[in-house]
Amino acid sequence: MQRMARRFTRVAVDSTKHPAEQYYADIYLDEIRKRLDEHGGEGLKILDAGCGSGRIMVPIARLGHHFTGIDYHRDSLRLAQKNLDAVGVKAELIEKSVLDALSKMDDASFDAAMAIESIFVDEQYESILKHLARVVRPGGLLFITHRTRYFYLTQALAHEHFDDLAHIARHNSGRLRKGLHRVYHCWQTRTEIEETYASLGLTPLSLTGVGLCSGFGGDPLARLCDPSTLDEGQRRVLREIETCDDELLMATRYVFAVTQK
Ligand SMILES: C[S@@+](CC[C@H](N)C(=O)[O-])C[C@H]1O[C@@H](n2cnc3c(N)ncnc32)[C@H](O)[C@@H]1O
Repeated sequence: MQRMARRFTRVAVDSTKHPAEQYYADIYLDEIRKRLDEHGGEGLKILDAGCGSGRIMVPIARLGHHFTGIDYHRDSLRLAQKNLDAVGVKAELIEKSVLDALSKMDDASFDAAMAIESIFVDEQYESILKHLARVVRPGGLLFITHRTRYFYLTQALAHEHFDDLAHIARHNSGRLRKGLHRVYHCWQTRTEIEETYASLGLTPLSLTGVGLCSGFGGDPLARLCDPSTLDEGQRRVLREIETCDDELLMATRYVFAVTQK
């Protein structure tokens, strides 16, 4: 029997209301809007795997696209529904694990799929990626975030968790401890990300770093800079330096990959 994915979020947080979350969301949203304009068109069918409270889904659905959002966390879906209602937009919301829901979906049934800051906590990560690639039509787009080794090293170091440090340095996945909810996490190198997409028959369009030198909440990088404490002009400067340097791509909270089938 397929092993149930352990839930990452226990208390639903409405990330659409959090200023730091919005700073990071804007990086995703600007890229997604641009790519949908270039390659997609109007009224697209889009899948959001791990939609949470709809931080990305709701603003993109407002453009006239038709969303199916999947999340196994009921309270997050309630928040997503509330946020959809608030802007008068409809979407299909499915309360299931991403893999369960995906495995029942037809090939090529979506114009685009996204998994933003979600599926790297699922031990079936690789199967999920395969299904995401399968359910998107040829020519369709995928928007997926990956965790980096560097992110977990900073977390483990900040918590003085030296067992985790050694594990993170040598492996690419595992159950990490303090601050990381003791659930499964996985992370990739740039080469692994590129090889994974090549094996799925997807062409990379861009890889963007999200959160090079900033963070919030318990994130150690928040000690350097927390976007929620900045004014708009400062956030603009931060974003420019955080997304400009390709050499530092793998020293970020997330790598945001846009690919085309
Ligand atoms: C950090 S939130 C991100 C939500 C949204 N994608 C965003 O960017 O704002 C991660 C969400 O993914 C969901 N999630 C993670 N793994 C999942 C899985 N295997 N099946 C269903 N939902 C999952 C969690 O319940 C949570 O709501």
